[in-house]
Amino acid sequence: MFLPMNSGEQIQRPVQKANMNTAPRILVADEDSISVQTHAEWLKEAGYLVHSASAGQEALELLGNHRFELLISEQGLEDREGLDLVQEVRTRYPKMPVLMVTAFGTIEDGVRATRAGVFDYLTKPVMKEEFLLSVERAQEQAALLEENQSLRNQLSRHRKLDGIIGPSERMGHIFEVVESVAETRATVLVLGESGTGKTLLARTIHEHSDRTDSPFIEVNCGALPDSLLESELFGHAKGSFTGAIRDKAGKFEEADTGTIFLDEIATASPALQIKLLRVLQDRIFERIGESRTRQVDVRILLATNQDLLEQVRLGEFREDLYYRINVVSIELPPLRERPEDIPFLVDHFLDRYCEYHRKPALSLSGGALDLLLTHDWPGNIRELENAIERCVVLSRGEQIQAASLPPHITRTKGQVLPLSQEVLPLKKALEEPEKLIIQRALELNGWNRQQTADMLEVNRTTLFHKMKKYGLLPDSKTRISGA
Ligand SMILES: Nc1ncnc2c1ncn2[C@@H]1O[C@H](COP(=O)(O)OP(=O)(O)O)[C@@H](O)[C@H]1O
Ligand SMILES: [Mg+2]
Repeated sequence: MFLPMNSGEQIQRPVQKANMNTAPRILVADEDSISVQTHAEWLKEAGYLVHSASAGQEALELLGNHRFELLISEQGLEDREGLDLVQEVRTRYPKMPVLMVTAFGTIEDGVRATRAGVFDYLTKPVMKEEFLLSVERAQEQAALLEENQSLRNQLSRHRKLDGIIGPSERMGHIFEVVESVAETRATVLVLGESGTGKTLLARTIHEHSDRTDSPFIEVNCGALPDSLLESELFGHAKGSFTGAIRDKAGKFEEADTGTIFLDEIATASPALQIKLLRVLQDRIFERIGESRTRQVDVRILLATNQDLLEQVRLGEFREDLYYRINVVSIELPPLRERPEDIPFLVDHFLDRYCEYHRKPALSLSGGALDLLLTHDWPGNIRELENAIERCVVLSRGEQIQAASLPPHITRTKGQVLPLSQEVLPLKKALEEPEKLIIQRALELNGWNRQQTADMLEVNRTTLFHKMKKYGLLPDSKTRISGA
C-alpha cells in the first residue's frame, strides 16, 4: 500500500519552535493514507515530530522503540480495529494520552472509546483547528497527570502527617488509616513499644477530627494507684473519701465534646475495667460517692505497649472490654524495623533542637548516621530524640561526629552485662545487673522517670526506690548525661 510517508519517517518541526530532539513525538495509526497525510501535515506545521503506522502491530513496535507523547488512532487499521490497539496501548503505557478519529462515529463507539480511556473522540471530517486543539489538550492533560504523579512521589518521599515524620512504607499505611478514622467517632487503640509515637499519634487523630476545638485530655493509667485513678477519671463527691474536700469533676467530664486518651490501658484493674466498659458502651458513669449518673460526649482513644490479647488469655484483661476498645487498632512499628525513617527524623529533631537551644544549624557526619542506622533503638523515637537533643546541646562545630553520640550508641554491640565471678546470694547477685539495666533505661529516656518506669514496666515509686538504692538520684546527674 502506498504511503505518502514511510513508516517511522520523521517530519521535522519548524526551527523556531523546537529542535528535533525536544519536539513532542506523535504516532498516527491509520490505514487511510490520505487522512494520515493531512493530519501529519497539520501536526508538522504545528511543530510536532510525526511517525505513522498503518497496522496495529507496526504501531506497537514503534511505541516500543520511541517515547511518544500522543497516539492518534483511526478506527480501522490493516490488522485490527483501532479500539483494540487503543486498549492494548492503554494497558502497556497507561500514561500515554490517546485520540481517536473515526469515519462513522456512532454513540456506541464513542462510549467504548471513552471506556477504553481515550482522551477525545473525533469524527471525520475533522477540521484542522479542532484537530490541533484536541492534540494540544491531550498533551496538557498528560503533562498534568505527570506533574501530579511526581508531586505524589515527592510527597510520599517526605511523607509526614503534621509533626509525624515517616516516609517509610509502613508509616505511609498508618497515615492512610489515621486520615480515614480521624473524622469518625471510632474508638482507636494505638499499639506499639514505648517511644514509638503512640501519644503523638493519638493527639494527631484528635487534631484531624472535628473535635479539634474541644479538649484533648490525656490520662496515663499506669501512673496512678488504682483508687486515685478512678477518681481522676470519673471525679468524686465531697467527703467520699479522706482527702476529698470538695466535689471534683473527672477527666471524662473535662473531655466532654472532645477526646480522652487513656494511655497504658493494660494496667487498669479489674474493677476499673468494668467501669471503663460501661463508659465505652454508653458514655455514662458516676462520680465516686455520688448516685447521679452522668453522660458525656467523648471520643475515646487508648494505647498500650502490652500484648492485650495475651492478657485476655491470661485472664488479666476482660475479653468484652478488649473487643470494645479494639474497633480500630493502629500498630506503630518499632524504629529498628523502619530505619529508612531515621535520616528524616534526625533532620527533624536537629532543626527543632538547634532552634530551641539557639544553636547554629547542625548536620550529621556519615559515620554518625551509620551508627544511628544500625543501632537497635530499644527506646525508639524517644531515644533518638534524646540522643539528638544531647548532641545539639553539647555540639561545638557544625557537624556531629560519631564520637559525640551518646555512649550507649557508640558502644560495641552484643555486650553482655558484666557478671561478678563470685557466687553471691541470688538477691545480692541480681543487684549489679539491675542497677545497670535501670541506668541504661534512664539514659535511653533522657532520665525521664515516668518514661523509664514505662519502659521497665514498673511503677514510678518502685523506680524511685531503686534509683535511691543504687545512688542514681540526680544530685549529680543532669538531664543531659555527660559522655
Ligand atoms: N514519627 C514521629 N515523628 C516525629 N516525632 C516523633 C515521631 N514519633 C514519635 N515522635 C516523638 O518521639 C517522642 C516519643 O513519642 P511518644 O508519642 O511520646 O511515644 P509513646 O507514647 O509511644 O511512648 C515524642 O517526643 C514524640 O513527639
Ligand atoms: Mg505515650
